[in-house]
Amino acid sequence: MLIGVPAEICPGESRVSATPETIKKYVAQGHKVVVQAGAGLRASQPDSAYEAAGATIGTAADALGAPLVLKVRAPETGELAQMKPGAVLVGMLNPFDAENNARMTAAGITAFALEAAPRTTRAQSMDVLSSQANIAGYKAVLVAAHHYQRFMPMLMTAAGTVKAARVLILGAGVAGLQAIATAKRLGAVIEASDVRPAVKEQIESLGGKFLDVPFVTDEEREIAQGVGGYARPMPPDWMKRQAELVHQRAIQADIIITTALIPGRKAPVLLQEETVQQMKPGSVVVDLAAAQGGNCPLTVADEVVERHGVIFVGHTNLASMVAADASALYARNVLDFLKLVIDKDGQFTLNLEDDIVAACLMTRRVEEAVA
Ligand code: NAI
Repeated sequence: MLIGVPAEICPGESRVSATPETIKKYVAQGHKVVVQAGAGLRASQPDSAYEAAGATIGTAADALGAPLVLKVRAPETGELAQMKPGAVLVGMLNPFDAENNARMTAAGITAFALEAAPRTTRAQSMDVLSSQANIAGYKAVLVAAHHYQRFMPMLMTAAGTVKAARVLILGAGVAGLQAIATAKRLGAVIEASDVRPAVKEQIESLGGKFLDVPFVTDEEREIAQGVGGYARPMPPDWMKRQAELVHQRAIQADIIITTALIPGRKAPVLLQEETVQQMKPGSVVVDLAAAQGGNCPLTVADEVVERHGVIFVGHTNLASMVAADASALYARNVLDFLKLVIDKDGQFTLNLEDDIVAACLMTRRVEEAVA
């Protein structure tokens, strides 16, 4: 099969959907690969590396016109127009974006959104949410350290002692846990909160302190277990108790990294303006939920702003700021997913009995939907 790897055109997107490493494997499996000229440049992959791996270099039309197209981000209208009806598309396609799904359906393609894969052991090697959130959590700490005008570790120098930074992490999923690990390596003192009590041990094993918001009712305890590993919106009473604890800890913190998300919904507000007003001047908030409305109402998506003396970082694509490794991991996720939809003869196959394939399928090409 011919596999197309177009350059990403979304502003600020530096990742690429295939690397020379994965292309070698596609070629070894008997596929042909066409990579758009310059597609990997911002991820430190020159065209020559793709050619050496066995790909040919082509235009956007060549890559988007292939029967199987690999992308990082959902295609924009102009890109969809270059795709052939009946083509197969694999990428991070925003499964909750109904408008985008409608556009892809109208284009007559079969589209797989990898973010929709279930969080099961078998799906782990193709879990793009994990591979990219891990990177975002790491980069969030480095970005915070960049904006923070003090040291992270405790230092004893001839000129006096420097205190370690206090880092508060709100939301300890994949990104939050990596943020804890990274901040710990830099020598910070860490506290973290999450609705899911299951993360307490993970936070502690990474050297952080778990901020416990006790459950008062069975309903609270039940909702906090989440569904399929994901959080659900907590009852207002619990959120109020959490807000009080977060307020107390936030005004002591130097850096806050917020990562709390609830799939398909606006991010929960965890850091109120009244709290920010009492935070230390020069504190830094990195809000990883910025694209979903932010965990703090003062965050501005894709901007760095100062409010009440606190610096808010609202980058919505931190993974793209570590483009080479983010692409390497993403490309391996894609390679593993394709094993489920390409048969031993190298042809596309749609096995809806497979829970991962069924979950990721967003739209179906016309002839298959009819059959
Ligand atoms: P996410 O990105 O959807 O959310 C981030 C974190 O925010 C979660 O830990 C969530 O509990 C937390 N959160 C939501 N509302 C909150 C609130 N009001 N206050 C504090 N925290 C709040 O989560 P992510 O990182 O995608 O992980 C989701 C789940 O999937 C986790 O249980 C994780 O362990 C699990 N997982 C399972 C895998 C597997 O078995 N293959 C692979 C990766 C993750």
